Amino acid sequence: MRREARLHSNLTCRLLPGILAFSLFVYYGLPGAARGEPAKTYMGAEACGACHEKEYKNFMAHSKKSHSFKTVAAMKKRLTEGEFQKCFECHTTGYGKPGGFRSESETPHLKDLSCEVCHGPGSKHAETGDPKAIKRRRVGQGSSGFCQEGKG
Ligand code: HEC
Ligand code: HEC
Ligand code: HEC
Repeated sequence: MRREARLHSNLTCRLLPGILAFSLFVYYGLPGAARGEPAKTYMGAEACGACHEKEYKNFMAHSKKSHSFKTVAAMKKRLTEGEFQKCFECHTTGYGKPGGFRSESETPHLKDLSCEVCHGPGSKHAETGDPKAIKRRRVGQGSSGFCQEGKG
């Protein structure tokens, strides 16, 4: 009996770190929302423009996709609903992602392509202005300074 009890506690000692590590792994593997943190959502270019006027003006003036939704929507008649939805992947902000574009009526501020296509959802950063809360660039993207030069 005593031997069994000792065996048991030995086993617990050996297993506990593993269990702890696994729990942490599961916890931090969860998206922020599931951990009770407010999830980052998409804001649309205008919200960024409040603090980044230069980038905003460049982007609106030089990127066709900053206002292509109207043109895309005009082509809807010739498309099936499925084909039309496909267009959203490249012509809206955050389509199919949490806090991203859903439809023109529900999320009008995200119906065009915006800053967050490259910089990721910016709600947390826009609240605080903390540069650490936003991606400087999309992973795998060159440092061409797109929004300054206004290309794309
Ligand atoms: C409340 C003001 C504010 C708003 C709104 C805001 N930003 Fe910023 N942003 C800042 C400040 C302050 C900095 C740090 C100084 C700088 O680089 O200009 C910054 C820096 C950045 C950087 C550079 C980060 C780095 O690592 O150097 C990016 C990219 C950026 N913002 C994108 C955005 C995008 C996209 C939005 C809209 C979703 C946005 N910002 C909205 C204030 C704001
Ligand atoms: C894989 C990404 C992708 C998909 C999907 C896509 N487009 Fe595009 N589209 C682009 C790019 C990139 C441009 C060039 C944007 C620019 O010049 O700024 C563009 C440009 C356009 C333009 C010209 C924009 C303008 O205002 O001059 C129209 C119109 C357009 N697309 C319609 C559509 C329609 C309709 C669909 C769905 C059937 C669609 N696109 C699906 C990537 C895509
Ligand atoms: C097509 C992708 C793309 C879009 C769209 C875009 N950016 Fe950027 N942005 C970049 C990249 C790439 C960099 C990093 C440049 C570098 O590191 O040299 C950058 C850098 C920045 C910086 C840091 C600039 C600095 O000098 O430190 C800010 C601020 C910023 N972007 C804001 C915005 C805002 C606001 C918008 C929308 C109005 C926007 N961006 C749209 C790709 C994009």
